[in-house]
Amino acid sequence: MPRRPSPAPKHRADRPVRSRHTDRSGANRVAASSGATLIFPATVPAAARYVEEARERGEEVVVAASVRGEETLGFEELILLPSIYDADFAERLRALIAAHDIRRIFSPVAVVHVFLRRLLAEKAFGPRLVGTTPVAAEMESFRRLLREAERHRGFIAAASEGRSRLDLLEIAAILRQADRLYGQSSAVKIAAMIAVCADTVPGDVVEIGSLVGRTAFVLAHLARRLAIGPVLAIDPWDAGAALQKDAAAFLKDSQDSWDFELCFQDFVTNLIPVAGNGFGFLRMPATEAYRRYAAAGRVESPWFGPVDYSGRISVLHIDGNHDFAAVSADCALWVPHIVPGGWLILDDYVWAHGDGPQRVGDALLAREGERIERAFVCGKALFLRFRP
Ligand SMILES: C[S@@+](CC[C@H](N)C(=O)[O-])C[C@H]1O[C@@H](n2cnc3c(N)ncnc32)[C@H](O)[C@@H]1O
Repeated sequence: MPRRPSPAPKHRADRPVRSRHTDRSGANRVAASSGATLIFPATVPAAARYVEEARERGEEVVVAASVRGEETLGFEELILLPSIYDADFAERLRALIAAHDIRRIFSPVAVVHVFLRRLLAEKAFGPRLVGTTPVAAEMESFRRLLREAERHRGFIAAASEGRSRLDLLEIAAILRQADRLYGQSSAVKIAAMIAVCADTVPGDVVEIGSLVGRTAFVLAHLARRLAIGPVLAIDPWDAGAALQKDAAAFLKDSQDSWDFELCFQDFVTNLIPVAGNGFGFLRMPATEAYRRYAAAGRVESPWFGPVDYSGRISVLHIDGNHDFAAVSADCALWVPHIVPGGWLILDDYVWAHGDGPQRVGDALLAREGERIERAFVCGKALFLRFRP
């Protein structure tokens, strides 16, 4: 099989790459070869994902397809194999296996996967097929999702005191979409958010700290679906404002890799499909956003248009800067707007990196205990319902 000549970069798809490991003595050594993995046909996104993950773990990969096209453009070099319907396919595959010491084949197209399973069994070429067929994988992934939704359904029913109208598939839909968006809120916290939205009164839904929009997506969907009210997401998307002064140096360093301009665009992209006419954002710190919210009532956001807020908050999710001073200021300004029957969600009340949210939450519980009807901690967040 002819290959296009080119300089040899470290991780070329068509040449096995020997991964280097550092042993206990600190010396580099070339890992004893465990052969290469053939990805065929590399014509669907699952192929690119496999290649990326394989390279991350130092696995050698050989990428092949039967056609070049839009889907294969991402691969620097691609080996062309005949179609599985061509008479010489088996022979060309056998030669490729021998030439590249291929021990595994990942085939992300269902019909090719099934064909290869038979062929490998028949011809005893040696490599094994990795994983199941893509269709079987999708079925298994959906079954897993249903099991997870089922696990959360009982909790949602209990936490909402039986008021949730969301069925299994809608819970699954929210969990799945939220999981696809980067974020730091767990599935169980999202289940608790579903419960409180199912058991609240009408009003504005306000989120302080949205990052790329995982929880904003959940709140936007629920606010529309349950006719709670308009949603306002607040985040400066700015490294300076996001800096947590109380935290350890390495936590601050971990924020260096955020490109907040890109995060903001990520957020907009994630929210466009679910925003409807009742979603807006303010790109500024929550203390500044408060002045706009309290004074105007109307917020005009690019992409999402004008939204009128009532100033009466049904659900307030505080997940911004976790410094004690910042959480205190957010609570002092925004909590008084929560209406009777509304909820406060104070994120990271249980937090390994600091105690700002916990100190503020405990002070609130001590001060407002009489007004609080229900309180629980779930997914590290404190959920408080004010008496109706
Ligand atoms: C933990 S992340 C939010 C995660 C998000 N709620 C989720 O579940 O995916 C914290 C966010 O708070 C934002 N932030 C930092 N300081 C803020 C402030 N003063 N007001 C509002 N948001 C702030 C940061 O920019 C960051 O995007």
